[in-house]
Amino acid sequence: MTRLRVQSFGVSLDGYGAGPEQSVQNPLGVGGLEMMEWFFPTRVFQKMYGSGEGETGVDNRVAEQGFENLGAWILGRNMFGPVRGPWPDESWRGWWGEEPPYHVPVFVLTHHARKPLEMKGGTTFHFVTDGIESALAQAKSAARGKDVRLGGGVASVRQYLRARLIDELHLALRPVLLGSGEHLLRDINLRALGYECAKHLAGERALHVFLRKT
Ligand SMILES: NC(=O)c1ccc[n+]([C@@H]2O[C@H](COP(=O)([O-])OP(=O)(O)OC[C@H]3O[C@@H](n4cnc5c(N)ncnc54)[C@H](OP(=O)(O)O)[C@@H]3O)[C@@H](O)[C@H]2O)c1
Repeated sequence: MTRLRVQSFGVSLDGYGAGPEQSVQNPLGVGGLEMMEWFFPTRVFQKMYGSGEGETGVDNRVAEQGFENLGAWILGRNMFGPVRGPWPDESWRGWWGEEPPYHVPVFVLTHHARKPLEMKGGTTFHFVTDGIESALAQAKSAARGKDVRLGGGVASVRQYLRARLIDELHLALRPVLLGSGEHLLRDINLRALGYECAKHLAGERALHVFLRKT
């Protein structure tokens, strides 16, 4: 059965999943990189963007597991880029260069229609303007029995949580304070929605908490 999974989602101790004022210079918002400092030293990150070496401990293992058995992704439009409002043109092609690290169909939630964007390495971005259920149905169909990963950002995860559509949510809790930004769980009663903590693991630089829908 295809599951909708959130994996490796960095959260500050005070509950933020992104810093404020996202821009090209600060894709994760001001201060947001601190939330992901557990991920950058891992072998899985270094193989994608760095030297190819990297650490192989708990943080790396959970990050690697997050990429297993994926047939499609869903992203919010701000995770795809910093462009807001109607697309001025088609020049923005994502944060990741010509070969994004997805290698499967990616469904981008937006209010602004755009033609599908085929990239190198098997990633095609499809822009979905008719809501989260539609994006999930399209992603599940594209995933052909594998799982769908919801990559973020915060607004998108919050919507899918409220709709009880996320099956598994892995948070990487970092001992840093952001003070402001996009808060992940404010006013969301996960317990009432039927989520429980299934497991937690201490990594080298984050506490990994795995929530699942009961
Ligand atoms: N902590 C982590 O691990 C992590 C992971 C991923 C991303 N992030 C960060 O999170 C931030 C982005 O999160 P965010 O909360 O700003 O935004 P987001 O969830 O990436 O995108 C929100 C935007 O997507 C579109 N959208 C969302 N739901 C929609 C719906 N139901 N129908 C139509 N369009 C919809 C809207 O864009 P339009 O109205 O403009 O079309 C909305 O403004 C970035 O800083 C990113 O780097 C953090």
